[in-house]
Amino acid sequence: MSYCKSEGALLFGIPFYRPIFFGVAIILSTCMYTQAQSGRTQSPHVRAAAASGGSAHENPYTGTTRRDIDLQARDILGQMTLSEKVGQLVEYAAGSATGPGKRQDDLEQRIARGEVGSLINLAGAEETNRYQRIAVEKSRLHIPLLFGFDVIHGDRTIFPVPIGLAASFDSALVEETAHAAAVESRMDGVRWVFSPMVDIARDARWGRIVETSGEDPFLSQNFARAYVRGYQHGGVRDPDSVAACVKHFAGYGAATGGRDYNAVDSSELTLRDVYLPPYRAAIDAGAGTVMSAFSSVNGVPAAANAFLLTEVLRKEWGFNGFVVSDWGAVRELLDHRVAADGYAAARMALSAGLDVDMEGDIYDTYLADLVKRREIPESLIDDAVLRVLRVKLAIGLFESPYAQEGNPYVLSPERRALARRAAESSFVLLKNNALPSGRPILPLAHPGTIALIGPFAESKSMMLGSWPANGNANDVTTLREALLARMEKTGGKLIYEKGTDISGDSSAGIAMAVKAASNSDVVLLTLGEDGATMTGEATSRAHLDLPGNQQQLLEAIASAGKPIVLVLFSGRPLAIPWAGSHVPAILEAWFPGIEAGPALADVLFGDVSPSGKLPVSFPRSVGQEPLSYMQFPTGRPSINTDLSHPPRTGPEKDVSRYIDEENAPLFPFGWGLTYTEFSFSRPLPNRTLLPLSDLKAGRALEDAPLKIGFDIRNDGGAVATETVQMYIGRVSSSVEQPIRELKGFARVTLAPGEQRHLELPLDFDELSFIDAKLERVVEPTSIDVWIGDSSLAEQHTSFLITQ
Ligand code: NOJ
Repeated sequence: MSYCKSEGALLFGIPFYRPIFFGVAIILSTCMYTQAQSGRTQSPHVRAAAASGGSAHENPYTGTTRRDIDLQARDILGQMTLSEKVGQLVEYAAGSATGPGKRQDDLEQRIARGEVGSLINLAGAEETNRYQRIAVEKSRLHIPLLFGFDVIHGDRTIFPVPIGLAASFDSALVEETAHAAAVESRMDGVRWVFSPMVDIARDARWGRIVETSGEDPFLSQNFARAYVRGYQHGGVRDPDSVAACVKHFAGYGAATGGRDYNAVDSSELTLRDVYLPPYRAAIDAGAGTVMSAFSSVNGVPAAANAFLLTEVLRKEWGFNGFVVSDWGAVRELLDHRVAADGYAAARMALSAGLDVDMEGDIYDTYLADLVKRREIPESLIDDAVLRVLRVKLAIGLFESPYAQEGNPYVLSPERRALARRAAESSFVLLKNNALPSGRPILPLAHPGTIALIGPFAESKSMMLGSWPANGNANDVTTLREALLARMEKTGGKLIYEKGTDISGDSSAGIAMAVKAASNSDVVLLTLGEDGATMTGEATSRAHLDLPGNQQQLLEAIASAGKPIVLVLFSGRPLAIPWAGSHVPAILEAWFPGIEAGPALADVLFGDVSPSGKLPVSFPRSVGQEPLSYMQFPTGRPSINTDLSHPPRTGPEKDVSRYIDEENAPLFPFGWGLTYTEFSFSRPLPNRTLLPLSDLKAGRALEDAPLKIGFDIRNDGGAVATETVQMYIGRVSSSVEQPIRELKGFARVTLAPGEQRHLELPLDFDELSFIDAKLERVVEPTSIDVWIGDSSLAEQHTSFLITQ
């Protein structure tokens, strides 16, 4: 049974044949809009500059249907010179640089000549409008500029970094944060955000793991959809929406050795089974643009990879938006040594399906010449220009090219509340041992005397993490500030000592920190890695331990003999085996954003039970990387690899293991404690036999959906949210499959003693895999199902898929 391919060409989910936008709500509103327009023989003219107070330009491009948009794009194309066409395929940097390269010193003249289609890194209504006026009023065809920005985890309101948001396992929350980011971006004149990043990342050495949703394709697909829905909320024409850009297509997270920009070598089977699904999910959710990766994939740089950009993305998936290169990546085809000169680079990228050259000087320098020299047909340029124009038309840029000015940004209490909720949901309680009294360390009891130690306790900028967009460190409330504010009301004493810096080897503050610890009832120790220089782009690390002399500080504080809560700030899994065995409580906080302090205080004091789960495995040692819970079977399994087989007895020799390290991670995927205990009943499928014929390729089991039912009960004394996880495995398959794969999850909040019955669905998508013919198939076999609170889930059932 093979997977049916995408049928209609979509642009932001607008199918070729139906006048609708993406999403059910939008279908309604747009159908209404379309009806209101019907009967008109001509598009209305809109005064585009009204909002800015600039001089008006009569704009005839207001269509909303796929057909309108197509006709209008062709109408514009028909009026363009070759140089204006190339201009639409050029994106220059204005404002701050997020990569190397030269700046255009004649940007304004180029825009006026119609030689620029989009700008990156310019934010602020006044600034964007200034450039927009040049494009709309001075250029011959008045085609507006598209302003793009790296809005990754918020624009001004900075939420937790994406790996932290992923730890929430809460796609509705992520949708809300993305929508808030869209609203703020629009106020900043930004119509296009370079997000979501949906690269699967399994190597903690790779600094960009912080920007991902982690190691698991199923989880990442859920978040990919959520980000797109949030950004393009209400439809791409909505005044509160921005166009999403899915990146980095494709497989960027599989950089060899975890070293950024390094080559990716992946079988097509693994690409299709692991790496491609999240991009596909984002595109099916309506994302209109895609950014290609820097890296080469199986020898061909992504920016010139016809297999990825044309065969898969356009022909198989029906993607009809445009593809932008990553920063300077077309020029880098020379560094990749696949192009001997700029002409070759331009020809290779455009022919492969790459439409827009971001901050490169290749398309602007060589494309027109290539046409004149008859080395590429002009139609190739026309196709790319049409894709760009269609996106500009679809998002209503011609009708409303300007941002509202004189609208100073104010951080609203609602936004702060969302940032706080997002941060609280992102924290993962890795460990919470009991004190001699038998009570776990967390939540903290009456404050008493708290020693707050470490370089993160009062750093505002560190809380923002990498890619803080237009965030402002002054908006951050630190942990120290939040604890002081709280203890003013509750009493108790706070002693603060920095102890050491994040990096470097100064140990001058350690003695004072130990003294503070000795004088306290409990120590809150804040350690981790630098959010700006150690995580994000070009920040691969060969060592995954605590940088600088933080380990020294940790061991010195432990020697004071007081209960320690380690609050870890990082954009990646760190290898912290010493802390894992010597520190009684560890809370992974990632980089939580502007509400870092209050959110941490809420969780540490138990106003809110932690609910985050690891979206990526934490190793014991860097030598285990790349690491994922999705282990494949081996002919010689080790007892700690294969949870579905009875443990082996006897010496672990000649099995798939390290001789000097366990196979198992320190903290596995899906792991995260709460302040209560949950128990699960044995799950039961509503059908024990599932004939293959019921699983219609790519379609839901409409008549009798397969569901796994079970009860969950809160056995402890606190209200808490648990993320129930469902994993499946196959007893046999034509191509080896992971022993466990996440295929369902749900967040459930229960009061003490409360019990709830839940059902999680399993359908074609969840039961299928890519076979040796590279087709998505479901095969007859027995399917194991585990339900529980992490990838170690124990409650088991099974059902049969029959011929
Ligand atoms: C390079 C990064 O790889 C990409 O994610 C980002 O969107 C662009 N630069 C633009 O800043």
